[in-house]
Amino acid sequence: MATRNEKKRQKAEKKMLAKVNGNNKFKDKKVQKKKHKLGKRSKKNKSDATISKHADNKTGAIGHAGIDTKSVKSKPEKTSKTAIENSNSSEVTSNERKKVGESKPCLSSMLGSGFSIKGGTLQQKMVAKLKAAHFRYINEKLYSVSGHEAMEFFQNEPHLFDLYHTGYSNQLNQWKYKPLDRIIERIKSLPKTAVIADMGCGDARLARTVEQKVHSFDLKAINDRVVECDMSRTPLSKSSVDVVVFCLSLMGTNIVDFVLEANRILRNGGIMEIAEVTSRFENWENFIKALYKFGFQNTDKDLKHKLFVAMSFRKISSVEKSRDLPRLQLLPCLYKKR
Ligand SMILES: C[S@@+](CC[C@H](N)C(=O)[O-])C[C@H]1O[C@@H](n2cnc3c(N)ncnc32)[C@H](O)[C@@H]1O
Repeated sequence: MATRNEKKRQKAEKKMLAKVNGNNKFKDKKVQKKKHKLGKRSKKNKSDATISKHADNKTGAIGHAGIDTKSVKSKPEKTSKTAIENSNSSEVTSNERKKVGESKPCLSSMLGSGFSIKGGTLQQKMVAKLKAAHFRYINEKLYSVSGHEAMEFFQNEPHLFDLYHTGYSNQLNQWKYKPLDRIIERIKSLPKTAVIADMGCGDARLARTVEQKVHSFDLKAINDRVVECDMSRTPLSKSSVDVVVFCLSLMGTNIVDFVLEANRILRNGGIMEIAEVTSRFENWENFIKALYKFGFQNTDKDLKHKLFVAMSFRKISSVEKSRDLPRLQLLPCLYKKR
């Protein structure tokens, strides 16, 4: 039989796990009180009813502080077009989407569980939960700052980059279709002399897989193949590459700068390959039209996969930064924790 002390310890562990899970039962009394007040107010005003609902941490909407589960929101969370409940699978059911009024899944919802474990001790589960929360925080961060700011962020917190990449790799292994595979196939069909720039290369799988010379760039180098840089300013010379690849990497808020850098380093007639999460596009046709103004003509697109869109472009003219260029924006991947 468990001793009294053991029972106490088990209870404390459960309490901590419940906090990580956002379980109300063990919530801080202060938060409970605040919720109670909100609940009271909601009776007075019908519109406030949503407040108490959203203040309920069951939905566990984690803000940019990532693991701060204490704050009680006074306004309902807006469900952005890309917001979706966290899911263990890369395939999101239509029922899950309906819950948040969303029609398409997004990357962070697919990535969010990169650290989930089945079984394991309570402590292992807690660690996995915390890592997953950190992972989602970093993922959101990358979608909400410029490339330059993201670079600074990882310079200050290098360990977070490793955590991000472990989570991403775990999840990548679960996807049946990997967007980089299509790009690899296309590059394999090009001459062996072609020179490639892989922007936001992650662990440089492209460079490891194809025979051509690949310059692999990322915010941090997780192996020797990777050159550390913000991809809006690579060390490559003008018109020096035949192919530029952006595979799930147009994350920063300054996509214009990434595309202008692609235009600078590509030779005329060179190819730009883009693969992105479907839900990031409000209107992919407008995105293609806008890229034309940046000197890129669309040559191919692959829309048959539910989660990812792939597009190929040819550089038809050199374009430099100017006020006449259109804005280039993709929706960030926001998420709701289950
Ligand atoms: C989702 S991962 C994709 C990795 C790889 N391209 C793949 O398909 O497996 C996105 C990568 O883009 C990188 N990234 C995002 N913004 C970047 C920037 N401004 N400069 C360089 N790399 C960037 C991230 O650090 C991350 O490694």
